[in-house]
This record gives sequence, structure tokens and C-alpha cells, in this order.
Amino acid sequence: MNKEQDNTWWVRKRDELLEIAERNLNAYVYDLTTIEKAAHDVLEMPAVARVLYAMKANFNPDVLRTLANATADFDCVSPGEVNHLRDILPDNGKDRILFTPNFAPRDEYEWGIKEGLRVTLDNLYPLKAWPELFAGQELFIRIDPDQGGGHHEHVVTVGKRSKFGVSLDELDELQNLVGQAGARIIGIHAHSGSGILDPENWHSVATALLQVAERFPEVRVLDLGGGMGVPEKRGDPLFDLQSLGQRLAEFQQQNPEYELWLEPGRYLVSAAGVLLTHVTQLKGKSDLRYVGVSTGINALIRPALYDAYHEIVNLTQIDMPASETVTVVGPICETGDKFGTDRALPPSNENDVILIANAGAYGRVMSSSYNLRDIPTEITI
Ligand code: LLP
Repeated sequence: MNKEQDNTWWVRKRDELLEIAERNLNAYVYDLTTIEKAAHDVLEMPAVARVLYAMKANFNPDVLRTLANATADFDCVSPGEVNHLRDILPDNGKDRILFTPNFAPRDEYEWGIKEGLRVTLDNLYPLKAWPELFAGQELFIRIDPDQGGGHHEHVVTVGKRSKFGVSLDELDELQNLVGQAGARIIGIHAHSGSGILDPENWHSVATALLQVAERFPEVRVLDLGGGMGVPEKRGDPLFDLQSLGQRLAEFQQQNPEYELWLEPGRYLVSAAGVLLTHVTQLKGKSDLRYVGVSTGINALIRPALYDAYHEIVNLTQIDMPASETVTVVGPICETGDKFGTDRALPPSNENDVILIANAGAYGRVMSSSYNLRDIPTEITI
């Protein structure tokens, strides 16, 4: 790698990261400037009236403050997320929160309404079973637009194998139930999957939601969800935000009566986070070489859960030629405890600092104490 020509933040800030690694065996490090830049790029799209950060991706306090300062609002999926957000940002108004629980118990909807939050229903069941909760309430309805995608089947949120959203063939029933409950539908919502790279997706979703919105005269908002993908390997093309902005602007011009909202998580925080760890042991087994590091799938489960690709770099030896092919593994007692297989790295030594990239989204938030190993500390720079 030619470090002089590489503008990735963690290459530019390598010395600072190596210092952090001297004090921490394992750490998530987030670069707030990178988050600000991503937020600015999304918020700048004229057709998008609101950007709600899906805080499930990363709920680190500094990350939340940075996004709030950038004027993002928040998508919360549990009372825990709402309360955490309020602890960190006590002055954040409740109108900046969209509460989108899924298969939640009755009490959570009751709580959300009592708190004055905007609530999204993503199933007919609450309207059927607890209509009294929703009388006179302004609600969002999450639809399954039956088109979308995702980087792995676990994150595709459309189609009959996904548990989310009211199906397009349930719209008559939805209309009846809303009428019977006396609810007022002011927003139609969809989140069609995660890690989608084709900007056309959100235009198609908007078109699908339009058909639904026309059934409810009070609808003002079409919330098109999140899901914008990020490049995994250096050299992969960036998500084409400009073309997304253009397509949404076209939609907006043709349908000026609706506000368009987006709910990105990954796009805002993924590239801004890295996981730093240290080489513990080296091993050869038959023709394979293993590099062991001091944290594992307890810290970052994405490679094991989704076969997700995260770039792995030996930060200590960043200028050395990547002359070995290795599998990078952690200390967890599972064969699936791998960060990457057949990766080209320079020869590693015990205590070298290893950096795992694109770890700002769905990293720390999905970590666990499996094997009673520590969850890495979080540091923002
Ligand atoms: N809105 C809703 C209603 C969602 O369920 C999600 C993500 C988002 C927005 C944000 O999606 P994003 O822009 O981050 O793709 N753990 C998986 C991703 C799960 C996403 C769940 N929902 C991963 O590590 O790839």
C-alpha cells in the first residue's frame, strides 16, 4: 500500500491510532469528522426533507451528538434506544424521533404514544388487537414494498420470508382497520433492506409507497428507509449519492405534496469506525497460515454472521509488502471466529497492531461477552 497516496482517514491518522493501540489491547475508534462529512452529504440532498439516523447502527454518545449537531433526526426501535438517546441528548425534541418497534408487546406502543412519540406500526395485528390505543393518533405505517435487497439474506426486509411490514395485498384490510380504530395515517414507511448499492431502489420504493399513500388523505410523509451500502474493499465504487438525490428530486417535483425522509444507519457511520486489535500468536497448519488477534467475533460478529468482508490491515507494518496469505482469527472457542480468510498481509509479529476497517456500523452494538471476553472500549477522535 502506498500510504502517501491513500486518503483513507485511518491511513492519514495512523500515528494517532498506533498511540491509542499502545494504551488499549482492543478498541473501536470512530473518526467524527468522517461521520460529519457523510451526514452533510446526505442532509444536503434538496429532495430529502429529513434524515433520521437509524441509531441501531452505532449508539455511541459522541456519535449521537455529532449526528444531532449535523441536524439529523433519529429512528429508534425500542424504548431502550429512545431512553438512551434522551440521556445523551436531553434537549432533543420528541418530534425528532420516529419510534419503529417490530413485533413489540402492547405496552411498548402504549408507552410510545403516551410519550408523544411518532409511532410506526408494521403489522395489522396492533390495529386488530388493540385498536383503542390508536384512536385519534397520528401514525406511520410500514409497508413491505416487495422490492429491495441487501448484502445478505438476513438483512433483506421485503418479501414473504421477511417478518417486516404490511404487505401490498393487505391494503384494503389496513384501510378498514385504520378507519375502525379512528387512527390518522400521516406517514407511509418502508425499509427495503440493508447494504443496497443501486440508488434506483429508493425511487422504486417511493413509487410503491405513493400507491399506498393515495388511500390515506392525511399522509404528508413518505419515509423511504435506510439501506444505502458502503464500499467494502478499497477501490470499490462509492454509493452514488448524487444519482439518488437526482432521482428523488424528480419524484419530489412530480409529487410535491409529500415530504421524503431517509433513515440511513450504515452510510453515516460504517467507514468512520475501525476495530484495533493486536497480534497474539502465529500458526501454520498444513498449507494454511493463521494470524491470531486479541479479540474475536464477540467484538465484531459480521464476518461470522453475514460472511461480511472487512478489510484487514497490519497497521504496524503498513508499508511492508503483503507477501503472505493468512486467515485472521480471534480467541473465541468457535471455528467461525474469523475476521477474514485468505487475506494478503505482510508477515506479522506478536503485538503488531491489526486494524479491521468499516467497523463503525453494527460493530460494537452487536458485540457480546461470549466466552466472557471483554467488549472493546470505544474511543472517538
Ligand atoms: N430503518 C429501519 C427500519 C431499519 O430496520 C434499518 C436497519 C435502517 C433504517 C438502517 O439500515 P442501514 O442504512 O444501516 O442499512 N446488522 C446488519 C444490518 C441490519 C439492519 C437492520 N435494520 C449488518 O451488520 O449488516
